[in-house]
Amino acid sequence: MNKNDLIKKAIKIMERAYVPYSKFPVGAALLTKSGKVYTGCNIENAAYPVSCCAERVAIFKAISDGEHHFTSLAVAADTKRPVPPCGSCRQVMSEFFDASTEIHLTNLNNDINSISMEALLPFSFQQEDLNKQ
Ligand code: THU
Repeated sequence: MNKNDLIKKAIKIMERAYVPYSKFPVGAALLTKSGKVYTGCNIENAAYPVSCCAERVAIFKAISDGEHHFTSLAVAADTKRPVPPCGSCRQVMSEFFDASTEIHLTNLNNDINSISMEALLPFSFQQEDLNKQ
């Protein structure tokens, strides 16, 4: 699965977004090292804060399926610039992605920003930080 095909899947899944409040669909497509793709869309709720972003839906679907090793993630929304993931999603990505995992941020004009996990969230809080000195 190449970058453009992964991006196409992220754009396609935008149509499943449940966004009655923001009317802002987002799609994500996550490629596992084993070659599987997990897609996700944002799912909102009348109690706004319990809504879930597309990226986390894709990651949680994969994790709940037993997949823990990822090559890349594509995220798409109808934005001017390639859509920047929110801080909560960056932190969730950093739990499961290697520093070099590629994240392809895009919009519907085919503007693409491919960025590594490390560049997207430097100095992230990690499992090792829970250890006392
Ligand atoms: N959203 C995502 O799903 N991913 C992002 O990267 C940015 C924001 C969602 C959350 C909410 O449903 C809507 O977009 C507006 O913030």
